[in-house]
Formats: sequence, C-alpha cells, structure tokens
Amino acid sequence: MSKLIIENISAGYGSVQVLHSVSLDVNPGETVVLLGTNGNGKSTLLKSVMGLVSPSVGAIRFEVDGQETNLVGKSPEEVVEMGIVMVPEARRLFPLLTVEENLTLGAYRDAARKKINENLDFCFTTFPRLKERRKQQAGSLSGGEQQMVAVARALMSEPKILLVDEPSVGLAPILVSQMIAKIKELKEIKNLTVLMAEQNFNQAIKIADRGYIIVHGQIEFEGKDAAALENNDMIKQYYLGV
Ligand SMILES: Nc1ncnc2c1ncn2[C@@H]1O[C@H](COP(=O)(O)OP(=O)(O)O)[C@@H](O)[C@H]1O
Ligand SMILES: [Mg+2]
Repeated sequence: MSKLIIENISAGYGSVQVLHSVSLDVNPGETVVLLGTNGNGKSTLLKSVMGLVSPSVGAIRFEVDGQETNLVGKSPEEVVEMGIVMVPEARRLFPLLTVEENLTLGAYRDAARKKINENLDFCFTTFPRLKERRKQQAGSLSGGEQQMVAVARALMSEPKILLVDEPSVGLAPILVSQMIAKIKELKEIKNLTVLMAEQNFNQAIKIADRGYIIVHGQIEFEGKDAAALENNDMIKQYYLGV
C-alpha cells in the first residue's frame, strides 16, 4: 500500500508564488478531498506531485511498502512510473485518436504494459459506454464520455495513487453524481488511494474520508472526517450558503 506526504511545499509559476507552505497527507486506501474555489491552487498542488510544477521548498514523500522517495525533482515520467497518475482537469485527451487508442496510451508505464488487455477489459466493463464507442474519435464524445475516457486512461496505468482534478467541471449535475459514484466504486474495487481536488463541495463530500480546504494557496482547514468538513464555518459560508 502507498502513502503520500506533502510537507511544507511552496510553488508557483515564475515569480508568482501560488502555494505557501502546504502540508497534506493521504494514507493508504483513503479518499482525501482538496476543496477550494477557483484559483486557490488545487491544480498547482496536484501538478507539484506529478512533477509538472517544481516546488521551491518542501518535500513530497511517496511511501510504497515501507520504501520512501522524495518526488521533488522527479520528472512527470518518473512519477507516473512509480504509480502516481493524474486525471487532469479538462480531460486532456487526444481528440483525433479513438477511445481505445487514448486508453492504450495510458498504459505506457512498465507495470501496466503487461496488463494492457486485462485493464482494457476492466475499463470497458466499468464504462460500457466506452466499449460501444471504442472506435470513435475522443474529440467527438460528449463531456461526460470524455471524462470517462480520462478516468479510464488513468486506470490503464495501474495506479497506486490516483489524483483526480475537478472531475465535475463542465458536467451536468446528474453526470457529476454518476462520475463521483464511479470514482468511489473504482476505489473500492481497485483498492486505490485517491486525492481529489474539487470545488463542488456537495459532491466531493459524498466520497471523502476526510479533506482539506485550500484558500489562496494555504491550507486553511483540515477536516478529520466528512462531518468535520460539513460543520466547518468556511464551508457553510462559501459552499452551502448558510
Ligand atoms: N501556468 C500558469 N502560469 C501562471 N500562473 C498560473 C498558471 N497556472 C495557474 N496559475 C495561477 O495560479 C493560481 C492557482 O491556480 P490553480 O492551481 O489552477 O487553482 P485551482 O486549480 O484551485 O483553480 C491562479 O492565480 C492561477 O492564475
Ligand atoms: Mg484547477
């Protein structure tokens, strides 16, 4: 089982600092949600884990079977190779490639290549709609179907830890509910560890074991369980309109 420990990282783009000494951890088998409205640094945090953004200070420790690696300084390829995979915001599919080709591209990690057929079957069982559309260009799918491809592509790489960046963006409410339920189901079947960034509090809370609220690049609140998040004044004010 694997564990992620983010310790006091600061990161940004050029001279603009976005994350200010952020600490957060995800224990084996947990679903942790990172809640925050637009522009507060959720994606920057996930990108830091993936090696797409380089923190200027701090450590990102990844523990697998008692062995620990600092991810800071690793390339995105190295991070993926270790078993950390992100479902990026806005899906980022190859629009001209078919569903099946997009999924196959998710399996470039060594551990995944051997299991490509097995995992493809699993993805098609999980998302029967994608099986029907396997030969269709990804760019011609609906938003909900594209989100399915993005999640399925991540599964193709046999992740130990799945990072999901705002799966609800651009989807109709019913599809958001379905996608959130699917992530929960997958987590249980695959025994995944999940870190999900969301601004849709009501949806995220449905699958959260616990979570954090990020405001202006700082963790403002840590909720030990879903109830603690729901009872938080900031959540009531910003998300629930109380
Ligand atoms: N590639 C980038 N270059 C410069 N600034 C960026 C870039 N990406 C994000 N930012 C800025 O970083 C801040 C946090 O953005 P982001 O991490 O995307 O927040 P969130 O995912 O919570 O919406 C925002 O002010 C945004 O404008
Ligand atoms: Mg974002």
